[in-house]
Amino acid sequence: MLAETMEWLDIQSSQWYVDANLGGGGHTRAILERGGSVVAIDRDREAVRRAEETLLPLYPGRLEILRGNNRDMTALVSETGHKVLGVLFDLGWSTLQGEDPERGLSFSEEGPLDMRLDTSSGPTAEDLLESLSESELESLFSEGDEPLALPIARALVQARREGRLPRTTTSLAAFVSGVYYRKGFRRSRRHPATRAFMALRIRVNGEYDNLEDSLCGSRKLLEDSGGRVIVLSFHSGEDRIVKRRFRSWVSEGAAEFLFRRSLSPSENEVFENPRARSARMRGVVVVPR
Ligand SMILES: C[S@@+](CC[C@H](N)C(=O)[O-])C[C@H]1O[C@@H](n2cnc3c(N)ncnc32)[C@H](O)[C@@H]1O
Repeated sequence: MLAETMEWLDIQSSQWYVDANLGGGGHTRAILERGGSVVAIDRDREAVRRAEETLLPLYPGRLEILRGNNRDMTALVSETGHKVLGVLFDLGWSTLQGEDPERGLSFSEEGPLDMRLDTSSGPTAEDLLESLSESELESLFSEGDEPLALPIARALVQARREGRLPRTTTSLAAFVSGVYYRKGFRRSRRHPATRAFMALRIRVNGEYDNLEDSLCGSRKLLEDSGGRVIVLSFHSGEDRIVKRRFRSWVSEGAAEFLFRRSLSPSENEVFENPRARSARMRGVVVVPR
């Protein structure tokens, strides 16, 4: 949804924008190509290093790359001294992160149960599976909209007791598939472990809390001048948070909807890139105080 994203962000040349999820730099580059300037943030050291090498030399004076959590964006952006006219979120993890088996984000290849986007801090997915109680695991999976949250939590705790807790991505995926199979689910459009993995990644990276805080941060940044906040999400739980937050801003009179319902990718885009299937875009314009 790159073209629509740029359109709704309404890039004005020589104005500054925040890309709160730099990743592979696709959106940052698109803003720069349209004449805007960018403060780009990512918590992943590797994403920042790559963009410093490839993008920074191409746009002198128009790009600032910051390593950090976007929940701290107010402080991070104030340090640059730039007034910004829009904030873009592209939630989740990048293809490059997903394809690196060492990060354990995907179950298509064997890897450790790590799942951290910032590998310098915080517990890994394995740490959580080792330490959480059955009810804590159940609520972790429920928060990720996993329909078999309780049976999966129960089976994991049982496996832990018996010393056969899955320790790799593929073994966890097989374990979750086993729970689905025993509960009578035989076929589904997506892999049975998809939601359980999503739930673990969301918890390991504190994504719901980060999202709440970073949305507040974006509003604060735009309160003086007004400006747009555009969010691309890939999971119903994230989209719910964005929807609720935007609604409350609008009802307080602090923002106006750019479009009332979320936008989805076209059939063509989904055909070319099946990962885009669950993408949702929401946007508001913050009313200046
Ligand atoms: C979907 S990717 C972004 C892709 C990017 N828009 C592009 O066009 O290539 C999401 C990125 O956000 C980063 N990220 C996730 N949560 C973050 C947070 N709370 N603070 C900063 N970066 C975060 C991830 O490390 C990942 O690189």
